[in-house]
Amino acid sequence: MKRIAIFTSGGDAPGMNAAIRAAVRTAKYYGIETYGIQNGYEGMIDGRIKKLTTGSVGNILQRGGTILKTARSEEFRTKEGRQKAFENLKEHAIEGCVAIGGNGTYTGAHVFSQEHDIPFIGIPGTIDNDIYGTNFSIGFDTAINTAIEAIDKIRDTADSHNRLFFIEVMGRHSGYIALYTGIGSGAGNIFLPEADNSIEHLMEQLEKAAKRNKLFNLVVVAEGNKNGGAMEIAEKVNAINPNYDSRVTIIGHLQRGGSPTCNDRVLATRLGNSAVEALRDGKNDLAVGIIDNKIQFTPFKEAISKENALNEDLIRMAEILAL
Ligand code: F6P
Repeated sequence: MKRIAIFTSGGDAPGMNAAIRAAVRTAKYYGIETYGIQNGYEGMIDGRIKKLTTGSVGNILQRGGTILKTARSEEFRTKEGRQKAFENLKEHAIEGCVAIGGNGTYTGAHVFSQEHDIPFIGIPGTIDNDIYGTNFSIGFDTAINTAIEAIDKIRDTADSHNRLFFIEVMGRHSGYIALYTGIGSGAGNIFLPEADNSIEHLMEQLEKAAKRNKLFNLVVVAEGNKNGGAMEIAEKVNAINPNYDSRVTIIGHLQRGGSPTCNDRVLATRLGNSAVEALRDGKNDLAVGIIDNKIQFTPFKEAISKENALNEDLIRMAEILAL
């Protein structure tokens, strides 16, 4: 193998740059050239493919975002789009690709590797941690630490004013960020897309807390929760009992940026290194992950059809500790 390409796709996540750096340096170690594809699958279709040197990935380990930029591509979903992408890769003599992203990225890579003879290895990169085949995805640790810092600050003012705060964190389909930040911030209630949280149950808990003279409370809500986001839940609660002095904070894209934590840097570095070694070993159509601190490979097909389920024990524990 003489030349590979790397790209980031879907939502960016802190630590993606650390994975790019590790991949380029590992490739260099084995005498392989690395090309960077700009804007994910979009750039593959448009031919935005440029050589990366060890110099061009210097001083990026600690930077959030992705130096390769990212996009969600509609055209890559079509056979014609993938054909154009294949021709561009061939033109640049690319013999293997490292794809960093989430489920959509893995799906594109899987379909592509069924149609064309260029191997793909995926690296899980998303703050949501909703990818099967790894305990943690790149960016999750940074996102929860960013969110918890914000929630701690909200707690100060919530406590001072005896207010009820509804705090919305990211996670369209997954409650990982909500569960971890809810437990880590001692939230009174955590609304998860995966759980059957009811407004009635929340009202009961709030009443119980009020009886103990605990008037301030933090409710962490995952954006993809079935009862709606933080704003909708606050409205429902106020409609039942308008006496709570409540406020809503949506942390939003703040969670996607910033310098990666040390855990994310190490995770991304291990995954970037292993992805290149996997291509070199002739592996294809697989996602690399870390499970129980060991590098593991999962077929894309399996990774995209299964869920990185929340730990039920954590949900149960959060319920016990609520109030
Ligand atoms: O998948 C990562 C994520 O940050 C989700 O948590 C969130 O719902 C979504 O991306 C936001 O997407 P966009 O940046 O396109 O608004």
